[in-house]
Amino acid sequence: MSLPDVLPAPRELTLTGGHDKSGAPECAALAFRVGEITALLGPTGSGKSRLLSDIESLAAGDTPSGRTLLLDGRPPTDDERFELQGRLVAQITQNMNFVLDMGVLDFLIAHAESRNAPEPAAAAVRVLAAANELAGEPFAERTQLTQLSGGQSRALMIADTALLSTSPVLLIDEIENAGVDKTQALALLLKSEKIIVMATHDPVLALSAHRRLVVENGAVRHVLARTEAETSTLKRLAGMEAEFSRIRAALRVGGEIR
Ligand SMILES: Nc1ncnc2c1ncn2[C@@H]1O[C@H](COP(=O)(O)OP(=O)(O)OP(=O)(O)O)[C@@H](O)[C@H]1O
Ligand SMILES: [Mg+2]
Repeated sequence: MSLPDVLPAPRELTLTGGHDKSGAPECAALAFRVGEITALLGPTGSGKSRLLSDIESLAAGDTPSGRTLLLDGRPPTDDERFELQGRLVAQITQNMNFVLDMGVLDFLIAHAESRNAPEPAAAAVRVLAAANELAGEPFAERTQLTQLSGGQSRALMIADTALLSTSPVLLIDEIENAGVDKTQALALLLKSEKIIVMATHDPVLALSAHRRLVVENGAVRHVLARTEAETSTLKRLAGMEAEFSRIRAALRVGGEIR
């Protein structure tokens, strides 16, 4: 059963502040809305993963940070929390690989069927095509899942999440290290109409987000919306990225760089 059969998918999540690692209060009440990307920044150990976990578990003051999550403005009941387990949130993390021994297309068709997609075979073909757009080296319908490379596996997961997942919230941990075209991946995921929260150290991804949360000592310290000056910086960086990609692609196929 997909999420909308059980409960209406929430349009807005609100995080009410807890406390930092020293017990000092966290100021913010933050709303996360469908179609918006929030980037999460901060040094190692500052609490980015903790914040993602708080969202994933719909924290109710019962995690180390003391945060509480509201769905459409109110705390979920215990029953709702239970119903939503595993359905509210889709996640893309760095360390994901398939252990199923099955052909790619068969797997995608089975997944599309489980998601009640109207035409599972056509949906599966669309996911495969999108995955092949993201992966460097294309793979075929009959390729076994276990034969995919790390980058191909993640490309497949990203395309699958973007096109088949019904979870209204998407949490991403450092997509820049996934071995796929990160800008294209983000554009694909953005089309899926989800609340997106993304921990990243990548300046292009950070500036691509609608806003940035900066985490320090376990608490959100700054909430920054992208400014106009930053938008032009993003364009400049994106141009530099394109040049990097062009040279990387040429080097990969044994080309000479002039
Ligand atoms: N507000 C808090 N109160 C108490 N402990 C916290 C708080 N926030 C985070 N922690 C704890 O601090 C530790 C480091 O946090 P976390 O793993 O979230 O860091 P991170 O920013 O994801 O680091 P990295 O960039 O290395 O992945 C964890 O054990 C986490 O549970
Ligand atoms: Mg982390």
